[in-house]
Amino acid sequence: MKNHENDERINNDSSNRNFSDILEARLSRRQILQGSLSAATLSMFGLALTGCDDDDNTVTTTSTNNAVAAAALLGFTAIPVSSDDAHHVPEGYTAKVLYSWGDPVSDGPAFNMDASNPANEQLVQAGMHHDGMYFFPLPYGSDSSDHGLLVMNHEYVDPNLLHTTGGYDADPNGYIKDKADKEMAAHGVSVIEIRKNNGEWEIVRPSSYARRVTMLTAMDISGPARSSRWMQTSADPFGVQVIGTMNNCAYGRTPWGTYLACEENFQSYFAVTDDTNLSDEQKQINERYGSDNDNGWFGWEVHDPRFDGANEPNEPNRFGWIVEIDPFNPNHKPVKRTALGRFRHECAALSVTDDDRVVLYSGDDARFEYIYKFVSNRAYDRNNRDANMIVGNGILDDGKLYVAKFNEDGSGEWILLEQGQPNLTAANGFATQADVLVKTRMAADAVGATKMDRPEWIAVHPDTKQVYATLTNNTKRTEDQVDAANPRGPNPMGSIIRWKENGDADATTFSWDIYMLAGNPDDADPNNQGNIKGDIFSSPDGIWIDKDGRVWIQTDMSGSSQLKGIYEPFGNNQMLASDPATGEVKRFFVGPIGQEVTGVITTPDGKTMFINIQHPGDVPGGLRDSLGASKPTPENPRIASNWPDFNENGRPRSSTIVITKDDGGVIGS
Ligand code: FEO
Ligand code: CA
Ligand code: CA
Repeated sequence: MKNHENDERINNDSSNRNFSDILEARLSRRQILQGSLSAATLSMFGLALTGCDDDDNTVTTTSTNNAVAAAALLGFTAIPVSSDDAHHVPEGYTAKVLYSWGDPVSDGPAFNMDASNPANEQLVQAGMHHDGMYFFPLPYGSDSSDHGLLVMNHEYVDPNLLHTTGGYDADPNGYIKDKADKEMAAHGVSVIEIRKNNGEWEIVRPSSYARRVTMLTAMDISGPARSSRWMQTSADPFGVQVIGTMNNCAYGRTPWGTYLACEENFQSYFAVTDDTNLSDEQKQINERYGSDNDNGWFGWEVHDPRFDGANEPNEPNRFGWIVEIDPFNPNHKPVKRTALGRFRHECAALSVTDDDRVVLYSGDDARFEYIYKFVSNRAYDRNNRDANMIVGNGILDDGKLYVAKFNEDGSGEWILLEQGQPNLTAANGFATQADVLVKTRMAADAVGATKMDRPEWIAVHPDTKQVYATLTNNTKRTEDQVDAANPRGPNPMGSIIRWKENGDADATTFSWDIYMLAGNPDDADPNNQGNIKGDIFSSPDGIWIDKDGRVWIQTDMSGSSQLKGIYEPFGNNQMLASDPATGEVKRFFVGPIGQEVTGVITTPDGKTMFINIQHPGDVPGGLRDSLGASKPTPENPRIASNWPDFNENGRPRSSTIVITKDDGGVIGS
């Protein structure tokens, strides 16, 4: 998502230290930057990892375009960087827009190019700012690659594009309730039914599956925090039901075919105009989570008092969770699964133990935050999916939550976040497991977890179960705060870290290395050069590993950064593929102006890929002076981009793109 005020704040001032002192003694900074650390842990993975020479600063592969001989896994011809208002795929591939913000999910009202659809129409249209996404084959349980349910998140909204006359910031006096309702309706999740018809993908309309889950949808609260003192509000005195989900970023899924929508930057939506009614403990929570703003992001508190802590101190505690949604049952009431912890969840990446217990990895996307793992206590039932989803007693309600500690020697530990464990006691503010979960960040502080450079998506290799996590960047890490897992300070380019559990997916120790340090070998600052073998990129965010083991990497250089300064050589945000056996990287896709590329999944046969283009038209930093604006305005929504419609009265729209190979082959082959 785009950076805004709250993302700039660092909420973790815990004393958890990095390993810099130890590291200085063992490894020189130069060694780290050159990737020798990876070499030290190479034997665990048995792979060549870096593009750097051990002996000097020479980077062995340099190019803004592909300079790597085509490997078997990556058969396509890489494309160059670009900065135009268009999307690009390699020769022999076709990319088509399938589903844009405002399109009807079923047979509802069409999108009005001037964004004049009211809230009740937005409720049955695609939300804004597409993000994480998964393809569920139809019928349920099949591996169909020509019919299925496409389920995706809509992370946030740009009011200047969502409304004809903008939102609260553009016109406070014109901020009628229908605008707030439309903003809420444009958040959440889409379930659409899609099928291939004469070789072309289309949305099935009408569809009995199609629906929207939004900020106005009722959902159950389940797990240890259900009905706890933290969850009770005037509208819900028992703390068992909440209206809405928001800022759904990346996704997860379960083996029984449900979708997990992760709540990321929930904190920005809440104001505290007066803290008289807040306990000291709640004030500490709000400070640690950043949910103590003077104003909510969009001004929802103007029309709904629950978004102001002065009225409802507990309301922010009901967000920052992971929501389970059954896409196969349009009447299913979504469930917030509190056992998975509360933080700015980017994603929930699935692994499964050999005895069918469910493992979910999730990063907390903020500077100096942590990576977590949940392990269910029970095996899921392969023959009774409803039994896995029971409110109060589901597979995701009963398990252990851990936080990661990355040691400097390439080993790692999963530290249990369970009430009663060392430092997680009543004396320290953790009298119940609900306390641990509502205050997950503070529990992780208390046990000495490793502060990471903004953990984003996580991907599990389908064969090896090795886990890859993007650390998108951290410009606030200083040189004296570096550690082995976060070896650059500042870190404007980001990296991809990787680990292997020592045993099955439920292991409590692991071995890790750095898959690659992003950057540009031509950058004058050695700190920004990275060690990419092949096509360069910065700020990795989305990551996903396909059935053949291709590691797909999507970038999210922020709006203010794009096409400017050290980020200029990278062009627009893009998607690349890498081969984990060689570390080689090839650029596969570049998107239009101002967007980020996110949400990657294929059909089971690997022959159709779906990706999402989020927030096209954000004004890139490199164009702000010449365009005289930092974002689209209600008067000029097309100032930076008019993708994908290029309608003279339209506006840029986040969209799902379908990519196929012209010869019918597997994407990337
Ligand atoms: Fe929503 Fe961390 O990206
Ligand atoms: Ca993201
Ligand atoms: Ca991001």
